[in-house]
Amino acid sequence: MLNDFWYANSINTLSRLSRSRTITCRAAVAWAANSTLSIEEVQVEPPKAGEVRIKVTSTGICGSDDHAIKGLLSAVFPYIPGHEGAGIVESIGKGVSSVKPGDKVLTLIIPQCRECSSCLHPKGNFCEKQDALSSSGLMLDGTSRFTCKGKKIHHSFRTSTFTEYTVVLEIAVAKIDAAAPMDKVSAISCEVPTGYGAAVHSAKVTRGSTCVVYGLGGIGSAIVMGCKASGAARIIGVDINEEKFPRARALGVTDCLNPRKLKKPVQQVVMEMTGVGVDFAFEAIGLPDVMLAAWDSCHLSHGVCLIVGVAPSNSKLSLDASKIFSGRTLKGVCLGDYKTRDCIPQLVTDYLQNKINIDPLVTHQLPFDQLHKAFELYHAGKTIRCILLF
Ligand code: APR
Ligand code: ZN
Repeated sequence: MLNDFWYANSINTLSRLSRSRTITCRAAVAWAANSTLSIEEVQVEPPKAGEVRIKVTSTGICGSDDHAIKGLLSAVFPYIPGHEGAGIVESIGKGVSSVKPGDKVLTLIIPQCRECSSCLHPKGNFCEKQDALSSSGLMLDGTSRFTCKGKKIHHSFRTSTFTEYTVVLEIAVAKIDAAAPMDKVSAISCEVPTGYGAAVHSAKVTRGSTCVVYGLGGIGSAIVMGCKASGAARIIGVDINEEKFPRARALGVTDCLNPRKLKKPVQQVVMEMTGVGVDFAFEAIGLPDVMLAAWDSCHLSHGVCLIVGVAPSNSKLSLDASKIFSGRTLKGVCLGDYKTRDCIPQLVTDYLQNKINIDPLVTHQLPFDQLHKAFELYHAGKTIRCILLF
């Protein structure tokens, strides 16, 4: 008790002292599309009204960070990448009431403002204040909180977690259980809700159903976990990297397919294996051709195809229009359709209560300084999720 009291007081004092000052710290900067990230000294301004400054403790490397660094998604360079983050609130701007200094939090790529058309609707979660589609790289007031070598540095999806300190909107921060292990729970900022949530919450995979999961990386593995938890009878896993198969089988995949080793298109093989197509198909890579394969793997009448992967900006999907009427559903899903601030903290509590086990989704943990090694491992297909620790 005394310790808690002392801790809360010292955090408050620290926060009062630092609230108005700029912090200089280490961060990874992507100066231009496809360039190697460079670890720099950056200045992080104090949070403005409605904003929160966070001391980041851990951040995962997600497929979309890699796509964005390569210039495939809408990111504004130079910027600080990263969105899958966990940390501790360092200071808060005016009017912030849902978190206080010392609170453990996750950063949210999709905020929940609780007042826009998306937030007020019972379905969906794509808050109008997100900055993931046609990204501005700026906070809501049109400015950035980061500078490096005198230059303005943009935010990524209004998160930016490859930095010791970041500034995020209060509506993009989820307060989590004080007992959460901060070296792991960053995975619950994106990987777990995106994958597990797509299966259990968005698709609502049914007991005894047949599923196919395209892509067995971090997100695909979390989808497999959700399908298994929902009682799917058969889970077909598809990946070009066979090193992903043993882990996928351990999570619940019953049949593994490498499309590069098949003599026929993979969707045709899935059709033949199931006779009628799957009940639920998931795309967790971000490639239009694979999205089509997922769609064509579905049962013609009731099959549901969920697109979880983020395709490159301006890419197009070309469907056979004459076959759409048969009844299949094509659905996009982001962070499992969870209203983020309302639902994501519960996933952390579920983990602490052993109701979900995220441990198999985190295969590597490295100090932030070894960022380049972490990306090498990611590119070599060795990781499911690598978490960088500060
Ligand atoms: N066919 C099958 N599998 C493929 C193909 C392909 N053509 N291309 C890549 N893969 C596999 C990779 O081998 C890898 O195992 O897809 C997997 C992708 O996983 P990760 O790179 O770990 O990416 P992840 O973090 O899981 O994100 C996947 O979800 O949230 C989105 O933006 C994210 O679009 C990305 C997707
Ligand atoms: Zn909203």
